[in-house]
Amino acid sequence: MSAVPKQEPRFEAMSERDLDEVLAIENAVYSHPWTRGNFVDSLHAHYECRTLRLGAELVGYFVMLIGPGEAHLLNLSVAGARQRRGHGSALLREVLGIAHERGAARVFLEVRPSNIAARKLYEGFGFRAVGLRGAYYPAHRGREDALVMAADV
Ligand SMILES: CC(C)(COP(=O)(O)OP(=O)(O)OC[C@H]1O[C@@H](n2cnc3c(N)ncnc32)[C@H](O)[C@@H]1OP(=O)(O)O)[C@@H](O)C(=O)NCCC(=O)NCCS
Repeated sequence: MSAVPKQEPRFEAMSERDLDEVLAIENAVYSHPWTRGNFVDSLHAHYECRTLRLGAELVGYFVMLIGPGEAHLLNLSVAGARQRRGHGSALLREVLGIAHERGAARVFLEVRPSNIAARKLYEGFGFRAVGLRGAYYPAHRGREDALVMAADV
């Protein structure tokens, strides 16, 4: 009898070789996705850019900027077909762990007020609304505000 080995989720540093797969997810899950240039710039600027894979399959990624004393989560995404299985939580746990290791006391992020899934995920990890940035995101009609959330790490 042969057992099928269980695939453990694996974090890796993102590189430019990952970007075709990253962009396939990015373009599928956002109405206004980041461009390849946004990811290339983030990699060149040495932001914390990580992928999460199950075997060979890319299931999610994040991009975080760490500055003196605080971090800013810029992107966190899970492939549509892999959502609601704990991968977003695993990514966010990794975000908070890295921020802590790198000496950040707080992590900030922006989220569309209409993005209930993301807001619930962040709230579950202790993020709270700390402000609004007016007309921050492009939207189908005009622009949408961003909710600024923050958590202590
Ligand atoms: C937001 C996102 C990252 C969540 O990833 P995920 O892998 O589905 O998250 P998890 O399975 O770890 O879910 C954790 C919690 O988030 C909340 N959540 C996730 N998806 C939800 C949904 N569709 N509706 C309501 N709550 C949701 C729940 O509280 C969930 O806990 P539960 O499953 O015990 O109820 C994912 O939906 C995504 O990539 N969306 C598109 C990109 C995006 O909006 N990113 C955030 C930009 S700020």
